[in-house]
Amino acid sequence: MVTPTSIDPPPERRPLRSRRRTALALGMAGLLAATGVTALAGTAEAASTLGAAAAEKGRYFGAAVAANRLGEAPYASTLNTEFNSVTPENEMKWDATERTRGTFTFGSADQIVNHAQSRGMKVRGHTLVWHSQLPGWVAGLGTADLRSAMNNHITQVMRHYRGKIHSWDVVNEAFQDGSSGALRSSPFRDKLGSGFIEEAFRTARAADPAAKLCYNDYNTDGINAKSNAVYNLVRDFKSRGVPIDCVGFQSHFNSASPVPSDYRANLQRFADLGVDVQITELDIEGSGTAQANSYGNVVRACLAVSRCTGITVWGVTDKYSWRPSGTPLLFDGNYNKKPAYHAVLTALGGSSSGGGTPGAACTAVYGKAEEWSDRFNGKVTITAGSSAISNWTVAVTVTPPQKVSATWNGTPTWDSSGNVMTMRPNGNGSLAAGASTSFGFTVMKNGATTAPVIGSCTAS
Ligand code: G3I
Repeated sequence: MVTPTSIDPPPERRPLRSRRRTALALGMAGLLAATGVTALAGTAEAASTLGAAAAEKGRYFGAAVAANRLGEAPYASTLNTEFNSVTPENEMKWDATERTRGTFTFGSADQIVNHAQSRGMKVRGHTLVWHSQLPGWVAGLGTADLRSAMNNHITQVMRHYRGKIHSWDVVNEAFQDGSSGALRSSPFRDKLGSGFIEEAFRTARAADPAAKLCYNDYNTDGINAKSNAVYNLVRDFKSRGVPIDCVGFQSHFNSASPVPSDYRANLQRFADLGVDVQITELDIEGSGTAQANSYGNVVRACLAVSRCTGITVWGVTDKYSWRPSGTPLLFDGNYNKKPAYHAVLTALGGSSSGGGTPGAACTAVYGKAEEWSDRFNGKVTITAGSSAISNWTVAVTVTPPQKVSATWNGTPTWDSSGNVMTMRPNGNGSLAAGASTSFGFTVMKNGATTAPVIGSCTAS
């Protein structure tokens, strides 16, 4: 198991006093919403992680994750510290769960669900019926066979995860792009007709009655022909009692497809149909202030719509984004918080104080130095980003039964387990732009040679 390095523990590990404060804030938010008052007096101390800040607004803040990255220490520690919901990026798709007809494989998806559940994170299910990442055998079926295969797939996958998924993307990307408002060609539409969506939702409700059932799509983020088509589908379902609980807006943005000016209005019109809305795959290509402003706009739009229940970004770090050259996420390839991160945290009502300052950045790089049979020395090099910094903080986690027996060139504090050391400068922590310093420590192996986990460097 990867031990999270956390300067600001996620909600379930915060002290009781802090959890009570969150519960109080959530209770207050509900009370005020019920009375039509939307602003909360700023009496509670601001949260310092995305998940905790979103929770204080009665929402979740999630990330798409890949099972094969969970073993990478900074990936896991960033996920565990900052997010309180996950979506498997590929592991629940049809080609992963039923590559061969009737043979279900849940290993990678289970890994993600177990990781999330053991840390109190929610899980979004993605996705049951989609034309893409569909094994070839599905397209080869005749009509009757395809109907039973679709219903069986939904039933088996949802039953396997019954009670563990808060929302399922039951049908994904069924509509064409452009102005037609028509369903796209797919084995499902072509053989089962447009009724396949209704059938999928009815089957899904029976398979896990407690899960929220979502329709999910892209290029539906503003008011346009495609979102109108989805709107008409949802309105029709609600009027006929076809089960649907939520609509997912993927929200993949770049300069050619920026955050639409009617984004909030579009979310609101769907909410007014009586469904929750969720931002399900958010990423925004770009960098710096422009990217940060766009992210802030998206978060503010969600917060302005009471039925916007949560936001998921489509990955933890730019390094593993599905479009890495666009650097569209909140953490850079070295897990440093980007200006976009600070914009999101601020928009959520959180505060970076003690957790970094917008514009101030640093990296922490670990290297093993001397090693003996019973112990080794570690060295962490801190490098300021493109601006001078006046302070820095890095968490170092060792794996029990290892123990840190000595430190130098830094001032450590310890968590209650004794495994997580938060290191700050000795005296003045100022570093010029691009300048480096380092601290060191000795780890007693006690039989374990595992390298320590180094959290992301936080600068102010
Ligand atoms: O795991 C294999 C690897 O073994 C192989 O060597 C490699 C080379 O082909 O492929 C790897 O699989 C890739 C997989 O991502 C994992 O990295 C697939 O080829 C690749 O097609 C797949 O892309 C995913 C894409 O959906 C497929 O359509 C992206 O990761 C995933 O982010 C993306 O997610 C979609 C949402 O599900 C729906 N909305 C749009 C969104 C972005 O495209």
